[in-house]
Amino acid sequence: MLVLVTGGTGFIGSHTCVELLNSGYEVIILDNLVNSKREVVDRIAQITGKRPLFYEADATDETAVDLIFSTHPIDGVIHFAGLKAVGESVQMPLAYYKNNLLSTIVLMENCVKYGVQRFVFSSSATVYGENQVPFVETMELRPRTNPYGETKAMCERILTDAASIHPELSVSLLRYFNPVGAHESGLIGEAPQGIPNNLMPYITQVAKGILPELQVFGNDYPTPDGTGVRDYIHVVDLAEGHLAALEQVGPGVHIYNLGTGRGTSVLELISAFEEANSIRIPYRIVGRRPGDVAECYADVSKAHAELGWTAKRGVYEMCRDAWRFEKNQG
Ligand code: NAD
Ligand code: UFG
Repeated sequence: MLVLVTGGTGFIGSHTCVELLNSGYEVIILDNLVNSKREVVDRIAQITGKRPLFYEADATDETAVDLIFSTHPIDGVIHFAGLKAVGESVQMPLAYYKNNLLSTIVLMENCVKYGVQRFVFSSSATVYGENQVPFVETMELRPRTNPYGETKAMCERILTDAASIHPELSVSLLRYFNPVGAHESGLIGEAPQGIPNNLMPYITQVAKGILPELQVFGNDYPTPDGTGVRDYIHVVDLAEGHLAALEQVGPGVHIYNLGTGRGTSVLELISAFEEANSIRIPYRIVGRRPGDVAECYADVSKAHAELGWTAKRGVYEMCRDAWRFEKNQG
């Protein structure tokens, strides 16, 4: 089975390519390298002993995408390619809507044109917004009011509408919670450009001495220790969830939360990192970050019941593997 992985040199995409190749799939990566590096293809080959075909191309480029579909007998698409920085999306709304919506439309058009029936989409827990935790797939969407979150909700809508008039399509909308960690080889992981927006890469850069201290955004939330609670999921568990969706989902639209179902506070994650790696993380409590919710964690029973998938790795492994990757960075 041949799978087109858009955004395959990115954080989640690269780990999914590894799991696909290790499970016997053939892989084509399409990535414009806007947020990743070509050498990730070498790292994937080093880990798996198999080299995916790589196209440096833009998923919004109709000609380039059509060429890939017309050249290769693609069986399924996993669409990771997208812009994902919430703050940047507020500053550059048109770039976010254009990139995230157009890429999804162009890929789905080609699936219909070339008879590719399996489509897996990277959605986000951000679509639940202010709903009550734990988040369940049947909840009405209330995406956080930023263009990034809106693009995820809109792409879900676009794909659902397309599937309704193409009943042969199998569309999986995977709502990720907070992906962290790295492959145990330490060869691939999350390598954000500039100062990280997200908690785990910020912690690893403080651990390395690149940044002096962590700022904890608020300790007055209605949570057990007052800091924000999230459902951190090891990126390899997440990658395995994609294989489960690709293999087991039948025709129609299927929505799955991919998380652990467990909430961890900012202070708990700091403690886990310190314990797992025997490193102290200096931190300071500052004000809340605008737009943050108090708690975000998944009800994961649907993915377990229908896909037979459950996240296996805990917070300790997430912290250990994230740090191993960071140490290997130049
Ligand atoms: P990432 O930035 O590491 O990977 C995305 C990849 O897509 C990058 O390699 C980038 O170069 C590529 N890309 C972006 N626009 C492109 C385009 N138009 N054409 C071709 N390539 C393009 O991000 P990630 O963390 O691996 O996220 C993957 C997907 O999962 C994204 O759609 C993201 O919105 C979604 N997601 C991520 C998180 C998270 O916390 N990391 C949470 C929920 C959902
Ligand atoms: N946090 C800090 N200090 C930091 C960074 C984060 O205290 O320097 C806190 C946040 O306030 C929050 C928690 O750590 O309580 C996690 O924050 P992240 O930025 O790591 O993750 P978010 O939950 O805010 O958002 C992430 C992705 C979104 C995605 C969402 C899905 O960035 O794109 O998960 O739940 F939509």
